[in-house]
Amino acid sequence: MKELLKFITCGSVDDGKSTLIGHMLYDSKLLFADQERALELESKLGSTDGSLDYSLLLDGLMAEREQGITIDVAYRYFTTSKRSFIVADTPGHEEYTRNMAVGASFADVAVILLDATKGVLVQTRRHTRICSLMGIRDFVFIVNKMDLAEYEEQSFQDIKKELQEFIQDFPHNTMMVIPVSATIGDNITTPSRKMRWYQGPALLSYLEGLELNSGNAKEEDFVLPVQRVSRPNHTFRGFQGQVEAGSLRIGEEVTIYPSGERASVARLLAAGADAEEIVKGQPVTVCLDKEIDCSRGCVMIKGNSPEVGNMFHVTMLWMDDTPLVEGKEYICKLGTKRIPARIVKIEYKVDVNTGEQIPVSQVGKNEIVFCSILTTEKIVYRRFKENEAIGALILIDRITNMTSACGVIERPLKHFDNLTWQEADVTKYLREKQLGQKAVTLWFTGLSGSGKSTLANALELKLAAMGKHTMLLDGDNIRMGLSRDLGFSNEDRTENIRRVAEVAKLMNDAGLIVLTSFISPFAQDRALARSIIGDDFVEIYISTPIEECERRDVKGLYKKARNGEIPAFTGISSPYEAPASPDIWIDTSRYSVEESAELLLKEIQKHCGC
Ligand code: ADX
Repeated sequence: MKELLKFITCGSVDDGKSTLIGHMLYDSKLLFADQERALELESKLGSTDGSLDYSLLLDGLMAEREQGITIDVAYRYFTTSKRSFIVADTPGHEEYTRNMAVGASFADVAVILLDATKGVLVQTRRHTRICSLMGIRDFVFIVNKMDLAEYEEQSFQDIKKELQEFIQDFPHNTMMVIPVSATIGDNITTPSRKMRWYQGPALLSYLEGLELNSGNAKEEDFVLPVQRVSRPNHTFRGFQGQVEAGSLRIGEEVTIYPSGERASVARLLAAGADAEEIVKGQPVTVCLDKEIDCSRGCVMIKGNSPEVGNMFHVTMLWMDDTPLVEGKEYICKLGTKRIPARIVKIEYKVDVNTGEQIPVSQVGKNEIVFCSILTTEKIVYRRFKENEAIGALILIDRITNMTSACGVIERPLKHFDNLTWQEADVTKYLREKQLGQKAVTLWFTGLSGSGKSTLANALELKLAAMGKHTMLLDGDNIRMGLSRDLGFSNEDRTENIRRVAEVAKLMNDAGLIVLTSFISPFAQDRALARSIIGDDFVEIYISTPIEECERRDVKGLYKKARNGEIPAFTGISSPYEAPASPDIWIDTSRYSVEESAELLLKEIQKHCGC
């Protein structure tokens, strides 16, 4: 089998990416006759006055043809006498950075295009930085449109010099700069006669001959993130997944992490048949010589032990429209493991152009950020530079289920490593028994003036009258004490809710029924509170419409907010994200306080029997 090379092409709009690849396919006679014919016909109708428009070959999507830009990742497979290739053609526009990151994570080599008449642009640096972040270590820079630069050597040399200096900032194995004209075909498949001053290879020959320093698979540690445990009957138990690094033979010893249990390989299966040895890239089944504790998300390793921990530093590309702020919780996917994780601290963002580290409190779409992440339990990972499969992660928004970020693990953080959770003998269960109740947190959310505090208070009175042991945490009161250093920015609200959730959790552990009355306007923050408190969290949405809250205006705050005297006032100049599926909800504009409290009590008793 010919060795496969996967590369990504990136460039700004109009740098000629699609034309370049189209030309490679055409010159190498890699087109089918009907594609060639269609190309000739379409070019007559298209923009390039009858001559062949090679970009039409690649621009598969209607929308991109209409806009003249590439808006998704287009994968092409082609093969020459020396090598097979898969090319990911990715969009140049900044708004499509996400697609570029996807393409880069798949590729071994980055082919980055520049316009000879424009030189190194911000985008060139951005593309290089993202490819580097995604682990690419072999770079080819194509200085395109040399025809428009009169095939002049000096302008090429100037750009080459700038690139050679700039690539020093990035870890790389190889780096090549080639002068090209994609439309005319210079130095794509054959050396250009118009640039005799260039002695190097044409792009295709360079890619055909490029040796990848990805290392010898046999010398690497064997890594298999376990995807599935297969047990079709009681005699067979196999661990399935894709080999991410190294190789493994029957009889060799492996360790399962996080447990650290060891066993020897009894049987190997690949492609539906028994195998003596399995190697990187293969989907496999591994049977061991003894019963061990191993399930999806565990990692099987032969070689050096991985990191097992719950806090690490990552560099991430933020891809969400909603900015990244500290304290938010996401689902982290690493290898085959999915686990809740919180952004503990944003250390800085990286200026894509200069590489400068800029301290910030939030990060916008398409920015690169260095931050610390805490997962809810210890996971198995390696630094990205040691293993890409268990060193790279993505963060998924818990509400929208969209990928918010992709990132790489830089190093472990040992903050919690020297701390051990102390189990007390007087447990929450025991305290609940003593107090004769079930400890829960009744989390009231709703607009200012919706009736949260009034209702929480009325409900607490009823519970107290029933002999229950309760505690009410109220927004205004907490903000005069525990949270007096916080304001009403999104970040401060997140931190406020985090503190309240931690306090409520402690009080639950003490056996108390806790009632909290906070606007808690952001769904993510309430999700965070739920994850801190756990199963004993009951979300109560006081859904009084804003018109009614404003009509009541008990504290006179809506009036002030309307006059512009209170910035970021919830419902007016700051959003309120209503719960999509609260455990209980009530619209107080329809009932008296007494009726509402009665209704709530019934619902709560139904819900949690406290
Ligand atoms: S939260 O957003 O962090 O949950 P919290 O419930 O603690 O808010 O505090 C809300 C109370 O602070 C309101 O009831 C109101 O009295 C007062 N407040 C002052 N400024 C604002 C503001 N900009 N937005 C909302 N409430 C405000």
